[in-house]
Amino acid sequence: MKDVYILAIESSCDETACSIVKNGREVLSNIISSQIEIHQKFGGVVPEVASRKHVENITGVVELAMKEANIEREDIDAVAVTYGPGLVGALLVGLQFAKGFAFSLGVPLIGVNHIEGHIAANYIQYKELEPPFVSLVVSGGHTFVVHVKDYDDFEVMGETRDDAAGEAFDKVARAMGLGYPGGPKIDQIAKEGNPLAIKFPKANFHEDTLDFSFSGLKSAVLNYLNSEKQRGNEINVPDVSASFQHAVVSVLVENAMKTIKSRNLDKIAVAGGVASNSSLRKALLQKGEEENVRILFPDAILCTDNAAMIGSAAYFQFIKGYRSGNDLNAKPGLSLGGR
Ligand code: KG4
Ligand code: ZN
Repeated sequence: MKDVYILAIESSCDETACSIVKNGREVLSNIISSQIEIHQKFGGVVPEVASRKHVENITGVVELAMKEANIEREDIDAVAVTYGPGLVGALLVGLQFAKGFAFSLGVPLIGVNHIEGHIAANYIQYKELEPPFVSLVVSGGHTFVVHVKDYDDFEVMGETRDDAAGEAFDKVARAMGLGYPGGPKIDQIAKEGNPLAIKFPKANFHEDTLDFSFSGLKSAVLNYLNSEKQRGNEINVPDVSASFQHAVVSVLVENAMKTIKSRNLDKIAVAGGVASNSSLRKALLQKGEEENVRILFPDAILCTDNAAMIGSAAYFQFIKGYRSGNDLNAKPGLSLGGR
């Protein structure tokens, strides 16, 4: 079979990214232009600023991805682009660029669901990985446990009823003045703290579901910080970070293990920005060893928002014959498995 080269674009939040992916699993280039520094001074992503920066960056990012991959325009078989979920203005910049580029090359356009992209990062990391498996998706906007039945068939087994895991990290970090994005900061500082120092509530929704709820935990941490301040006590930031992280990680591990058992599968592939968390990695690997379940994590560069994962997801759609029309629109609220 002829090799398939996909040029993929990702612009759903605060990263402008372009990647060239060969046959869904081989990354020829993976350019990510992060806007983190710009948004840091606001304490979070400002949508209008993000859109404007995408407009400024996208041409250069695509040119660089082509150059690094060392391929010609004629080699590209399809253009893939994230069309949701995400910030509507940010998504539209990527979409318009991708449509124009695909049209000018005379190749098909493939719209990709960002969450399905995060899961596909595992196909790049583990060249032999094929469905079925369970995926734990933990990002700034989403938290799911999913039965991945096929490359294009997902059954959501549990999801968050309120905040996402990464969002909880960001909000708690902000309350302690650690800055944005909070996940990596808490991960780092928690290494010096005691995870059992403060008992925070569990972050599951109900014992009998696989759903998550992080807003109660977040409020408990914020209340703790306020009441300690009122009493004039100094906050032990490493202890609060470690105890909060422990509460998040334990429910993620628990629900992922419950899911895999309920489906009689043997692999859990973790995906999304929070998949970089060192405590989550350690706890899941340990549990996996005890229970004979293989735990998969993409490298940090594939966990964060990137276009290589979009190119991988697009490949499996491409070979199944999926194509998007030029009327493809941004879908800010697109859910996992949704079209
Ligand atoms: O997947 P991602 O890059 O963007 C979204 O699609 O949301 O995830 C970003 C989220 C942020 O909330 C960030 O704080 C969190 O991932 N994150 C982490 C770590 N690295 C990134 N959370 C915990 N520990 C980390 N090491
Ligand atoms: Zn993401």
